[in-house]
Amino acid sequence: MLRKKHILLGITGGIAAYKLPLLVRECVKAGAEIRVVMTESAASFVTPLTLATLSGNDVVVGTIPKMTGNVMKGGTWHIHTAAWADLLLIAPATANVLAKLAHGYSDDAVSTLALAFTRNVLIAPAMDADMWNHTATQQNVSLLRELGYTVLPPDQGELASGLIGPGRLPEVYRLLEAVDAELEKSRRDLTGKRVLITAGPTFEAIDPVRYIGNRSSGKMGFAIARAAAQRGAAVTLIAGPVALQTPRNVERVDVESAEEMYRAVMKRRAKANVIVMSAAVADFTPASPAKTKFKKEAMKESTLDLPLRKTKDILGELTREKSDAVIVGFALETERALFHAKKKLKAKHPDLLVLNDASKEGAGFNTDTNIVTILSRTGKIDRLKKMTKYDVAHEILNRVARLL
Ligand SMILES: Cc1cc2nc3c(=O)[nH]c(=O)nc-3n(C[C@H](O)[C@H](O)[C@H](O)COP(=O)(O)O)c2cc1C
Repeated sequence: MLRKKHILLGITGGIAAYKLPLLVRECVKAGAEIRVVMTESAASFVTPLTLATLSGNDVVVGTIPKMTGNVMKGGTWHIHTAAWADLLLIAPATANVLAKLAHGYSDDAVSTLALAFTRNVLIAPAMDADMWNHTATQQNVSLLRELGYTVLPPDQGELASGLIGPGRLPEVYRLLEAVDAELEKSRRDLTGKRVLITAGPTFEAIDPVRYIGNRSSGKMGFAIARAAAQRGAAVTLIAGPVALQTPRNVERVDVESAEEMYRAVMKRRAKANVIVMSAAVADFTPASPAKTKFKKEAMKESTLDLPLRKTKDILGELTREKSDAVIVGFALETERALFHAKKKLKAKHPDLLVLNDASKEGAGFNTDTNIVTILSRTGKIDRLKKMTKYDVAHEILNRVARLL
């Protein structure tokens, strides 16, 4: 993947910076063009001269550089440089830069570029184990992943401090493999396509205070939205009530109930080339929600009868309509998963049905990983291994792209 690619390397001030000249050399050998940007601290660990010599390009150090000569060709430096690159790799990423990126700071060349960068960013943190394990660092890493950055877990082993633990920068060949995988994910094969995605649960009002909901976190649908946007699609994400950040370059529409989700989808379906129904839409809703909060004291019986009526079947309705859109449905099952998924595929015939077996460890609601089986209308069944929801998203989109 590296051949003819433009790689931007941001180096920050960690001891592992000494490994990066080798990575620059390997990228150049593989046919990539590489430009290096460094923080001032990074320049204490590895010299700009070494990196300029190996990359064959000027190296920018510190805060916004003095904008003269070649650096300033054709526009504001950070926007121009960000637009040039296919991928931004930040390695080693200090605890400091993780904190800055998680909160949108841009007070040095590396963080400014990251904020201006709209394509894939791969971050390889390296630090002492205690810094890595600190709750603040872990929260920043979670936030960065939600925002759509790929953060590589550091290796375990002996650290520069003499401690043993997580915090080592992965070896150069592993970083190159990760760059390759990230470039693969950022290929723009969905450019010009409109993708409509639903995600999260729905809440069905019992009265103004109480609702019937479900355990969906929305993470799978948000991962698909993020991946599709990175692959160049114009993405609209219809989200039930979830506590997740909107991925970059994604238009988000918030809804609450199954009825609202139905209307939001129907309003936008005609323009979509791809429709991914990953939301866990309630099957039933209270038939007549109370206008005011009802009181326990007013109940004569110890049990409550709550009449429910069926909600509209969004996926069923979409597939009944004759449209050119590729339609992806989801099935979450807790027993005889494949049997039920095949039944759903036959009844609703989406192009693809993604089966989630929530009884498996590492699958289902609120996890960061998933174990799915993808059934296609043509009868093909692909059982995928356990992987992150973001990687599952790409597996789904690879199949969607072939159907478009
Ligand atoms: C010898 C030495 C080694 C360091 N190694 C690391 C490291 O591996 N990871 C890290 O996050 N910070 C490390 N630090 C601390 C950072 O250099 C410091 O937080 C600095 O402000 C980071 O600046 P930057 O993020 O702008 O590059 C080290 C400091 C020293 C003095």
